[in-house]
Amino acid sequence: MRKMRFPSPGRLLIVALITGCILGMPGQASSQKAKPAKPAPGRGIQPGGTVNMPFAAAKPILEAFAARLPAGLQGKSMEALATEWAGWVSRRDADIRKRLEQGDEDSIINFMLFGVSFTKQPRATPREIARVVEAGRTPEDVLLARISDLAKGIAKPDQNERLLFARSVVERRGINPTTPAGFEATQDYLLEATKRFLKEGDSYSRAIEAARLAGDASAVFAERSTLYRERGLSSDTSLSPDYGIERALEEMKAKGVFAPGSIRRVAIVGPGLDFTDKGEGYDVYPQQTIQPFAVIDSLRRLGLAKEGDLRLTTFDLSDRINAHLASAGSRAAAGSPYVVHLPRDMEAGWDSGLASYWERFGDRIGKDVPVASPEGLSTVRIRSVQIRPDVVKLIRPADLNVVLQRPEGLAATERYDLVIATNILVYYDVFEQSLALSNVAAMLRPGGILLSNNALYELPATPMRSVGYTTVVYSSKADDGDHIVWYQRQNPER
Ligand SMILES: C[S@@+](CC[C@H](N)C(=O)[O-])C[C@H]1O[C@@H](n2cnc3c(N)ncnc32)[C@H](O)[C@@H]1O
Repeated sequence: MRKMRFPSPGRLLIVALITGCILGMPGQASSQKAKPAKPAPGRGIQPGGTVNMPFAAAKPILEAFAARLPAGLQGKSMEALATEWAGWVSRRDADIRKRLEQGDEDSIINFMLFGVSFTKQPRATPREIARVVEAGRTPEDVLLARISDLAKGIAKPDQNERLLFARSVVERRGINPTTPAGFEATQDYLLEATKRFLKEGDSYSRAIEAARLAGDASAVFAERSTLYRERGLSSDTSLSPDYGIERALEEMKAKGVFAPGSIRRVAIVGPGLDFTDKGEGYDVYPQQTIQPFAVIDSLRRLGLAKEGDLRLTTFDLSDRINAHLASAGSRAAAGSPYVVHLPRDMEAGWDSGLASYWERFGDRIGKDVPVASPEGLSTVRIRSVQIRPDVVKLIRPADLNVVLQRPEGLAATERYDLVIATNILVYYDVFEQSLALSNVAAMLRPGGILLSNNALYELPATPMRSVGYTTVVYSSKADDGDHIVWYQRQNPER
């Protein structure tokens, strides 16, 4: 393996990069018939039912962004755009879906930094790195040892599902990790990917800092809201945004935005798959999705959804996530429950609200099951909740790229009361966010709500307006919280 060189020299900077960039979060504080979307893969995934965004719906957004359209659309007349729109959408859809590959790579780097299933090396958390430095070792040393252990694991993954996934990513690059040359190439690949990852993290911190110096809190929120527009699409997720959603639902209920029992149809855009927990990269339990279960649990707890009268659709462009949810649905149809594992680092300074949410999670949809203390994670406690099959069966996964696609011809009675999109629109610029907002508007009934932790443009032509927001704090760590904005679908129909 080549010598480790980080973007900037200095141990402290590396620690800062590790703490700030990796553990950081972006959250906060036509007339022509549209081409059918890519067919949904796999059993149990909603067949078809989606169309590419029609030009008529995109036209007002193209007009509003005329001066700063992306390459390929720039400088063209509306007539030319009308002709070229369908082709651009197909190409852009393919490009967006390609970003999943880099997101997979980011997940593997998170796994390399924090995982305990393939190595005995200290985890690259600020606390453990501080201990390493005190003991006279360098952070570079730890990272190189972790990379080497991960490459060994990739060469011999046994039944470790994360190592098997990492191996498939390495093999997609034409590397055979089992040969001596392939082992070297795997280490080089991981090292380069780590450097890219840290460098990107550094640039996100700088962008936020620049916005902080130049503007007020809303300028920082706006900067955070498109922070990952160039980044790979990651699937990672954690419990905290679901706590934010519960708090927002609670406040909306108190303000009468939703009456008790009034939520029947819910969509989650980008439910996520916890490959290694977004915050701390845990790898001691099977991969899982959390948000769809969390939302059903919260709606029942708050009395906003009646039992037996709720349907939840998940929309995602990742085949991996859709297949995971479809297979959970098939297993539930055969009577099997779904177990969600909720790690909590007792030394992470969680806010008391998040801590009590962690304790009550699942009480309306399942029951606690015993779980052994995780090896190698002495300060971490895990709650495991077994979710009943009747709850799992409420979830219908569908393939959809929300930036460019929408469900096809939803009848008024099928429109959603509530759409949730957390930590997803941050991966797009304001033009693509505006397309997505129009696609979400097309899914919602008048008066229905989109909950997002991003500040979105409210174009006059798109019938979505912010009617409130909820601010939540997750921990004592700087900037660890969210503004969950309530965007309401306005009348009249468009
Ligand atoms: C970082 S995860 C967030 C998961 C979860 N919502 C949360 O807040 O923890 C982003 C999710 O959005 C999905 N996603 C990204 N871009 C998307 C798009 N254009 N359309 C649909 N899903 C998308 C990803 O595949 C992934 O499931």
